[in-house]
This record gives sequence, structure tokens and C-alpha cells, in this order.
Amino acid sequence: MNLNSLSKITQVIEPELEEFNKLFRNSIKSKIGIVDLITRYLLKQKGKKIRPILVLLSSKISGGINERSYRGAGLVELLHTATLVHDDVVDNAETRRYFPSINAIWKNKIAVLMGDYLLAKGLMLAIDSKDFDFLEVITQTVRRMSEGELLQISKTRKLDNDEETYFKIISDKTASLISTCCEIGARAATEDKLKIEALKQFGENLGIAFQIRDDILDYVGKSKLIGKPLGGDIREKKLTLPLIHALSKSNNFESDKILKIIKKGGKKLDIHDVIEFVKKYDGIDYSEKVSKEYAQKAINSLEIFESSEAKESLINLVEFVVNRKN
Ligand code: IPE
Ligand code: MG
Ligand code: MG
Repeated sequence: MNLNSLSKITQVIEPELEEFNKLFRNSIKSKIGIVDLITRYLLKQKGKKIRPILVLLSSKISGGINERSYRGAGLVELLHTATLVHDDVVDNAETRRYFPSINAIWKNKIAVLMGDYLLAKGLMLAIDSKDFDFLEVITQTVRRMSEGELLQISKTRKLDNDEETYFKIISDKTASLISTCCEIGARAATEDKLKIEALKQFGENLGIAFQIRDDILDYVGKSKLIGKPLGGDIREKKLTLPLIHALSKSNNFESDKILKIIKKGGKKLDIHDVIEFVKKYDGIDYSEKVSKEYAQKAINSLEIFESSEAKESLINLVEFVVNRKN
């Protein structure tokens, strides 16, 4: 699967996605020179726009896309962009989406403030139109995302992550926003609690599958394709599912050796030693299996909806997410 299949998925919402793009471009604008410069830099980068796509498709499947759907889509993409800008500061990342990161070009101070700016702009989209239900949902999400990131950092310091904590981390830092996209899309279109809950569940499971796939790509991706270097998680001492699984399968002697290599870190760390270790104990295959289980759970959550183009697209989006190469 590639970007082509993503464009096939979005065919059913093509004019709406165009409308969203317009709103997004306008909502990010600023009269302050440096802010405007950075927002224009961000707009040049082509993210996959999975979150606004989810908002629009969730609206479509549960009643129809309307003005509130667009504001919801703008809100989540602004929040997502804000978290990426902050994330690159936290992770010391040099590149993102094939471009040098904001922190790499303008330094941490500006990246932190820019992230705050984008978050505020997102919240304003909801406030200006009194979408208070969106604010209620999104505020919880921001809290969960921050908590997830903080828990992750505390685990990297101790280098003692386990599978249960891993799932808590990815549910909070990634699945919470993806779930919120689906919930907001549903809320924009219907008051039916059953539909809202189903889409929320769909998003949570999709989000978990999405992050596991992301963590796999850190081991097997082609850095040219992912738009960021391979092995970033290892260097940041993040123990993700492929590695957690391999560690649990290997004997103490071997797992201690690998943990020591990771702990030492720095420029000398050879990520290929770690990647080989993970492959030897089937960490990749295992993670792919788990990711696909969550993908299936997501698809099952859509049971209550009758067949439609939007439903078909949501199912194809799940397939895209667990097979994506970037
Ligand atoms: C990256 O999200 C951040 C994670 C939650 C792993 P995406 O892969 O959706 O990023 P873009 O928007 O396409 O760049
Ligand atoms: Mg990070
Ligand atoms: Mg990652």
C-alpha cells in the first residue's frame, strides 16, 4: 500500500478534504513575521492528514459532513501538528516529514512556543464557534497525550518498559487523539450515543494498530521512505513492542547485553546489533500480528453501521495504516 491507496480512500470525501485544506491554511495564519514564516514552512510539508480524514469519514458514516466537521478536522490537525513540533524537541529529532525539524532550524525555544501557538489556534477554532463539546473531548485528549509522553520518558530513564505499560503509553500518546478524531466526527453529525461510542472504539483500536506499525517502522523502515532516520527509538532508549517481545523471549545473559548496549547509547551505538537481536526473537513478526489484531478489532467496531462508501473507506484506511511504509 502507498499514498495512492490513501488517495483512493479519500475519493469519497475529495471536495470536503479540499474545503478542509482551505480552512486549515487560513486558521494557521499569523501577522507576526516569524510565526508566519514557520507556518508556511509547515504547510509545505505533506503529512498524511489521517486525522482530518478520520473526522470527515466519521461524520459521513454517521449522518453527514457539515460545518462542525470541518472545524473538528481543523482542530485535530492543528493539535496533531503542535504535538509533532513539541515531540521533535522532546526527541531531539533532526528531521520530520522529509524536512529538517523546526527545532533543527529555529532551535528549541521557538519550537516550543510555536507548538503552543498551534494548539491555541486549534482551540480557538472550537471556541469561536462555541463547539464546547469538542473542547471537552479535546482537553481530556491533550491531558492523556501529555501523560503518555511523560510515562514514556520515565520508562526510558529506567529502561524497564514492559508490554502492559507499553500499551498504556501508546493508548494515551497516540490512540487517544485518533479516537478523538472519530468521536468528534461522529458528534458533528449525530447525537446517537451508540454511533458515537462505536466510532470512539474504532479510533482507539485503530490508534493502537497505528502506533505499533509506527514502532515497527523504526526497525524495518527505509529512512528515505519514512522521512526520518531508522532506529530513532533505540537511540532515545524507547523500548517498544518489537524489542519488549524479543527481550522477554531471550535469556537474561542476552537481554542484559542488549540493554547495556542501549544504555550506553551515544554516537557509537550500533543500532544494527539491536535490530538483529529483535529479528532473531521474532519481535517484528509478533508486533505485526498484534497490530493486525487491533486492526481487526477496529473493523469489528463498525458492525453497527450499514454498508456505505464511507464505511468502505474507513475499513480501507485501517488496512492502509497497518501496511503503511511511512
Ligand atoms: C506521527 O503521526 C506521530 C505519531 C503519532 C506516530 P503521522 O504518521 O500521522 O504523521 P503525519 O501527519 O503523516 O506526518
Ligand atoms: Mg516522541
Ligand atoms: Mg516513532
